[in-house]
Amino acid sequence: MSVQRTLAIIKPDAVAKGVAGQIITKIEQAGLTILAARMIHMSGEDAGGFYAVHRARPFYQSLCEFMTQGPCLPMVLEGDDAIRRWRDLMGATDPAKAAAGTIRKAFASSIESNAVHGSDAPETAAFEIAYFFSALDIHAR
Ligand code: CMP
Repeated sequence: MSVQRTLAIIKPDAVAKGVAGQIITKIEQAGLTILAARMIHMSGEDAGGFYAVHRARPFYQSLCEFMTQGPCLPMVLEGDDAIRRWRDLMGATDPAKAAAGTIRKAFASSIESNAVHGSDAPETAAFEIAYFFSALDIHAR
């Protein structure tokens, strides 16, 4: 598997709980490299654009409101097979189904307030990374 980049977000619920540092530690301990990070408090328009792929879903409006309730922490992660590895570390979308040891098992409270986000494919990662970061924000090494 080749080196990939993926977009991670520590969502507003996890930032509000004060567990962002613990999540970052898990990312670093897993051997994924953080190439970029910023804190942003998204507007409804920001969240709506980011989750546009879900706009026909019944949970879209509620999801966008949740993502605007406080600041979140988007990051660019890099590593071998980074998309899958970050999704494995996050655990299942629904924390009730998340495996022991995953971030969502530890920190998520519902399928909506689920602590973290991760891109699901290389094309999605390219869109999502560019949504939050310009080339100059990304520190390759
Ligand atoms: P995320 O990985 O950010 O991708 C889309 C998000 O939509 C997901 O995490 C959840 O926060 C949310 N989501 C997915 N399915 C549901 C659902 N059935 N009800 C409410 N929110 C959902």
